[in-house]
Amino acid sequence: MDTINTKNQKRDKWASKLGFILAAAGSAVGLGNLWKFPYSAGANGGGAFVMVYFLFLITIGFPLMLAAITLGRKTQLSAVGAYRSIKKKWAFVGGLGVVCGFFILAMYSTVGGWVIYYVIKALTGGLAEKNPQVLGEIFGEFITSPGISVAYQGLFLLLTLLIVLRGISSGIEKASKIMMPALFVIMIVIAIRALSLEGAYEGVKFLLVPDFSKINMSVIVNALGQVFFSLSIGMGVMVTYGSYFDRESNLLQAGTSIPILDTMVAILAGLATLPAVFALGFEASAGPGLMFVTLPAVFASMAFGNVFCILFFLLVLFAALTSSISMLEVCVSYFVDEKNVDRVKSSIIISIIIFIIGVPATLSMGPWSDLTILGNLNFFDFYDKLTSNILLTSGGLFLSIFVGWIWGADKAVEEIERNGTKFKLAPVWKFLIKFVVPPAVSIVLLNSFKEVLA
Ligand code: PFF
Repeated sequence: MDTINTKNQKRDKWASKLGFILAAAGSAVGLGNLWKFPYSAGANGGGAFVMVYFLFLITIGFPLMLAAITLGRKTQLSAVGAYRSIKKKWAFVGGLGVVCGFFILAMYSTVGGWVIYYVIKALTGGLAEKNPQVLGEIFGEFITSPGISVAYQGLFLLLTLLIVLRGISSGIEKASKIMMPALFVIMIVIAIRALSLEGAYEGVKFLLVPDFSKINMSVIVNALGQVFFSLSIGMGVMVTYGSYFDRESNLLQAGTSIPILDTMVAILAGLATLPAVFALGFEASAGPGLMFVTLPAVFASMAFGNVFCILFFLLVLFAALTSSISMLEVCVSYFVDEKNVDRVKSSIIISIIIFIIGVPATLSMGPWSDLTILGNLNFFDFYDKLTSNILLTSGGLFLSIFVGWIWGADKAVEEIERNGTKFKLAPVWKFLIKFVVPPAVSIVLLNSFKEVLA
């Protein structure tokens, strides 16, 4: 990215057109696709979850992605400023995103720490194992050891901090050009291997053929939360990234390619994981450990399995970091832009606070598993539900009302067409953003409250 100066703040621009797509795709593609999508599908009825996910993706995810980057490009400001510059009272939506950033990164770093541990474990040959039970024990032993798992969580946050401190550096942009396609290719290879295992077909059927009787409110709530989480929508990341977009760029292209790419990675991760679950005797509803116990077994049954295992976890780590830096960036840029705090100082202090908030999430996998803070939710589950099902969802609701009604859908279309492209589906988009997204998200949100408080 090149740095240019406006009035009193430094503003970066994407070095290349690909820069935005890579950074936004980097934020979107992460643990949400590789780790969360397969286990959420596994725990929420497979095909039923995937079908509802697609429905929400098309009617809510796509329209909101476009709304977010358009708002960012129009105002050339990060979230709080973007809302405020159009309507002062709405700055709180950006603030909500900052709060969300703290909690989401707190839980994300728990899992990020697991990934680093698995990279090291793979490097030392400690994952060359086929037996589901042994793989479960390796995972279980690690996440329940408080000292080690907290240390790895800290390491993940430290890596995130170091990258953010150097600016959303051109280094990440350059690395993404290699890492993203590499991740894609390796996911295809793993999926092919998983699909060729004996008994894999059951898993494909489970993932892709919806059993309508499995659709209930909890499936609906989780599918919408997954759309927001996976696309990084609802906390201002895409508004901020869109603000680095120059006037000539094609918003439509960016707004559609990111959700498509993101979804392809999620489906590939599902096709790598769930067929193996059925073929190798794992449990589809195993929860957050699913990727960590199932995929090593697939690698163990592959030629050069250990190499694949190392590469896979390294790429997952890269994908997780390009997402975590976007979360930290939202928090840091708030304090830098709004409160005039020094960038280095605020990055360090915020990371420390996130670490402190995050430790209980990590401990709730082990010694604090029975410590519930709301209903029957432990810290990890609470942060997860609070962010995906309440904060991101509220952020998305406010975004749709703001762009559709306050700023105005027509003005947004004008901004989208500014570079000369014709937005043929503008009437459909306007209809969705004004009349479909707000009521649909409100209904799910109300039920999310019930779910969380139940
Ligand atoms: N989209 C990221 C993932 O799928 O891993 C997670 C995420 C990043 C959520 C940034 C929200 C966010 F603002």
